[in-house]
Amino acid sequence: MALKTTPAPASTAATSAGPKLSAKAERFTESVIREMTRLALKHGAVNLSQGFPDFPAPAEIKDAAKAAIDADINQYAITWGAKKFRDAIAANFERFQGVAVDPEREITVCCGSTEAMLSAMMAIINPGDETVVFEPFYENYGPDAILSGATPRFVKLHPPDWTFDPDELAAAFGPRTKAIILNTPNNPTGKVFERAELETIRNLCVKWNCFAITDEIYEHMLYDGARHISLATLEGMRDRTITINALSKTYSVTGWRVGWAIAAPAVTAAIRKVHDFVTVGAAAPLQEAGALALQMPASYYETLAREYLVRRDRLLGILTGAGFRCFKPHGAYYIMTDISAFGFPDDVAFAKYLVTEIGVAAVPGSSFYRDPAEGRHHLRFTFCKKESTFQAAAARLAKLTR
Ligand SMILES: Cc1ncc(COP(=O)(O)O)c(C=O)c1O
Repeated sequence: MALKTTPAPASTAATSAGPKLSAKAERFTESVIREMTRLALKHGAVNLSQGFPDFPAPAEIKDAAKAAIDADINQYAITWGAKKFRDAIAANFERFQGVAVDPEREITVCCGSTEAMLSAMMAIINPGDETVVFEPFYENYGPDAILSGATPRFVKLHPPDWTFDPDELAAAFGPRTKAIILNTPNNPTGKVFERAELETIRNLCVKWNCFAITDEIYEHMLYDGARHISLATLEGMRDRTITINALSKTYSVTGWRVGWAIAAPAVTAAIRKVHDFVTVGAAAPLQEAGALALQMPASYYETLAREYLVRRDRLLGILTGAGFRCFKPHGAYYIMTDISAFGFPDDVAFAKYLVTEIGVAAVPGSSFYRDPAEGRHHLRFTFCKKESTFQAAAARLAKLTR
């Protein structure tokens, strides 16, 4: 898991006699998700752990990146994003969510949504501030809170539908609340937050005068009629929402590291300052290609969702057949499972067995919870994979016995 349950030792030394390391960095581990990818490579396992497609990115987007390099768009872009790309982000947000934003004052292009989230948090958090985080959560949000100095208050999403109890949510808000972090469509649960739920969240944000930071990178991966609603579209939320998104998932370019944050001008000014001194800027030629990507026709997004639906159902079939109890996702590209039937002591032991003995990598559920015990019956699989990967996974998982 990413968060350590024991507090950092008072003295964090590189060696017994060496200089001290950061106490903040001592409070979390390396990413379990990324570690599972390394283990998959080491053991030659089929990698259903980390969420990156193993099929090619669209040819026209790759061509645009190559053309941008050839056209010598190879120097620093404007720190907060190339104008052409910011214009395309604004047009895309208006096209899909109907929200008009000013690309000159309300958008910051970052190195992936990962940097956008951390820069946004560092731009708004003061000592003593709290953030409300739904649990299970995408593991980065734990270290993000530590690095920015926020104290997370976790609110459960309850299986099987991953709903939250409005009273539990209300109890997590208070005078110290600076922001709620919302990821919809959600990793790891596949939940897509509905309008009534978003209204409950909105009412609390307004009541306690706090921000919402929304991670919407799976906005186009929707199944079973689910609809993605940006929190910024709700009355009273436009100027208190920081909307985060990226090229990574929608255009199958997770390695490009291009994302962005959309926020009201004063908030954007603070995010831009943090971003500038953390990374200066995102890759210039890839922003050029991103401008083209964001203008893809409606058919691109329809095909994307349709193909992911086929992959979801394919993996659901494989996992169910192998004895996993699956929580059917309505968005994003992960399947949370219940592994109780296999009789292992916990999720980490089972994940290790799977990767070393069966040859399939998945992510232990505990990495999505503050208390590892709460995720011990879960394992998360991703389905952003090609058919041959599913075939290999199916053949290997058939060896599992209950
Ligand atoms: C919810 C969520 N947010 C952010 C990221 C990382 O996105 P990016 O590649 O844009 O940094 C991921 C990657 O899996 C994710 O699942």
